[in-house]
Formats: sequence, C-alpha cells, structure tokens
Amino acid sequence: MAAEISASMMCVNFLDLRTDLYALKEAGIEYLHFDIMDGAFVPNYTLGPCFLDSVRAHTDITYDIHLMVERPEDKLHYFDIRSGDFVSVHYESTCHLQRVLANIKNAGAHPGVALNPATPINAMEEILEDIDFVLVMTVNPGYAGQKLISQTLDKISRVKDYLLKRRCFDIKIQVDGNVSFEHARIMRSAGADIFVAGSSGLFMKDMSILQAAAKLRAAIE
Ligand code: DX5
Ligand code: ZN
Repeated sequence: MAAEISASMMCVNFLDLRTDLYALKEAGIEYLHFDIMDGAFVPNYTLGPCFLDSVRAHTDITYDIHLMVERPEDKLHYFDIRSGDFVSVHYESTCHLQRVLANIKNAGAHPGVALNPATPINAMEEILEDIDFVLVMTVNPGYAGQKLISQTLDKISRVKDYLLKRRCFDIKIQVDGNVSFEHARIMRSAGADIFVAGSSGLFMKDMSILQAAAKLRAAIE
C-alpha cells in the first residue's frame, strides 16, 4: 500500500488557517486529521464540530476524524460525516464497539479502531470485518508534542503480522504520535500506511509545511 500523510489539524496556525490549508493542498497531503477530545476519555479539549464544518467549506482534502471521546455512539451525530471520510474510535471508549463502527460505515465513511499504547493487539479480533483501518497510537492520546513510547514501534510490526496472518490485506495501519522524520522511516518499515503528522513532522518551527512534507514524504517512500 502507498504511504499517505494525514495532517494533524490541532497543530495548524489557527490565526492563519487559510495559508496552512493552501500549503497542505500544495504538498499533496492525503488527509486532514481532526483530534476530537472530550476532557474525559483523554485529558484535554481540542477541536469540535463547528471547526470541522468551517474547514470543510475551504478544502476538498479527505477528513480523518479521530474521536477520543467516551461513548462515541452518542456523539457521532454531532459530526457531519461525509462519504469517504475516515473515522476512528478508541477500543476502550465504548462497550458497543461494533455498533459504533457500523454507524460510521452506514454514513459512508471508513471505520477505524484506535489502540492506545497499552491496548493489546488482539482487542481487534472480533471486529476485523468491521474496520477499514487500525490507528496504532504511538503516544498516549491527549497532547501534541509528546515523546514516542518506544515499544509501539515494535507493536506496529506485530499489528502488521497479526493482520497478514488473518489475511486482512486491505486494513490500513495508521500511526499517530511523535511521527518525526526519523520515526516515520522506522514506522514505514514496520508496516505503517497512514502517518499522522503534527508538531514533529509537518508543523515545525524551523521549516515550512512544504519543506517538512517533502522531507516526511522522502522518509516514507
Ligand atoms: C495526539 C494527537 C496527535 C498529535 C500528533 O493525541 O492525536 O494527532 O497532534 O502530533 P505530534 O505528536 O507530532 O505533535
Ligand atoms: Zn490523533
């Protein structure tokens, strides 16, 4: 599978969003990654439905909505989920995982399950038919700019093996958290397909979005 980049929208310059959106398009970024936090499932608040709606009017880049909220089945209707969007929910966030994944699929979107660093890989065992991607968290979700949890690099390889053994060739592996140029290269060799790029690999202090995107692309191709 070709490697793809999903830009972490919590890291954009909110005072100059239009310029960043233009640069992301120019750089050929495949997805916009929206971190939705509820201050309960994860310790922070970030983006919400109004922001997603406002951005939608100014871009045609595919949405990748990462729901870090408790009971996502009760909150999906807050979002204008469009056909072709990617939407992930955390394994621990609901006791009706299959139902919420089915609701995402019914909206025409690609359902994904997110695994925290400490969530075992076999948490996916009963929902392999219900997902189009698995989000392997490489930090504990909640904040941008965190340090990578090193054992998650090996976990990506184990997720890849796990999926291949079960003949799930179409399930994409997404990685999220401290995706730096150096880590991205290792993650790609381990089997990652979609790279969530935030403050470590795309929205950087010392280079432009275009420069960072080119460097990240070189690391994963
Ligand atoms: C972590 C968020 C990420 C974060 C990744 O909870 O889900 O999207 O923005 O970007 P980095 O780690 O590079 O700042
Ligand atoms: Zn995320």
